[in-house]
Amino acid sequence: MSFTLWFTGLSGSGKTTLSRATYFELLRRDMKAELLDGDIIRTNFSQELGFNKRDRDINVKRIGFVAHLLNRHGVAVIVAAIAPYAETRDLNRALIDNYVEAYVNCPLETAEQRDVKGLYARARAGEIAQFTGITSPYEPPENPEIEVRTDLETEEESFHAVLQALEQRGCIPRRNGGEDEKDVVEEEQRRRERLAELGFARKDGLLGC
Ligand code: ADX
Repeated sequence: MSFTLWFTGLSGSGKTTLSRATYFELLRRDMKAELLDGDIIRTNFSQELGFNKRDRDINVKRIGFVAHLLNRHGVAVIVAAIAPYAETRDLNRALIDNYVEAYVNCPLETAEQRDVKGLYARARAGEIAQFTGITSPYEPPENPEIEVRTDLETEEESFHAVLQALEQRGCIPRRNGGEDEKDVVEEEQRRRERLAELGFARKDGLLGC
């Protein structure tokens, strides 16, 4: 049965990294999969939305609805989006048959120290309003199916915890000893180049993955 794995957590917690690693692993295991990353969705699909509660709710429900449609056709969906409100996440949980929530738990101080995109500094300087964790709330999941601590674990450890949880839940087949490895990365690269040629915007050098 297909499923939606939703990585929720603060900006800079590691959602994109983990979601991409998981996505490529599913492709390697010959699964049909799609990756919906908040940054990319906002660039190509939710351009008109900002970061007040109403707009975030629309964005999160929009992603949930697309995930639901893809799941209906047997596509496993990996989402990386903050989705800060518990109530809105629960609406998606109710909509999506096999919803797996992965809480990418990382204290604000650590995410802020990393500040990969420089957004925390800008938020502290008052240049970005309603920034999650600073001037906008993040409600941590109370009962996520998966929880990783990216401040305490290595990237590898968190990634393996996610895969193990998916295997245990029967979402993905157990690995067959590393055989049948395909070069999915190259295939994805070609797809992204084609999309970029067609004028779809890139964010952080990535497009759709
Ligand atoms: S959500 O709240 O609607 O789920 P989403 O995951 O799509 O958010 O987008 C978050 C991304 O938008 C962040 O990773 C960051 O790059 C960017 N961003 C820009 N402004 C904000 C803001 N005010 N709060 C959080 N993220 C922001």
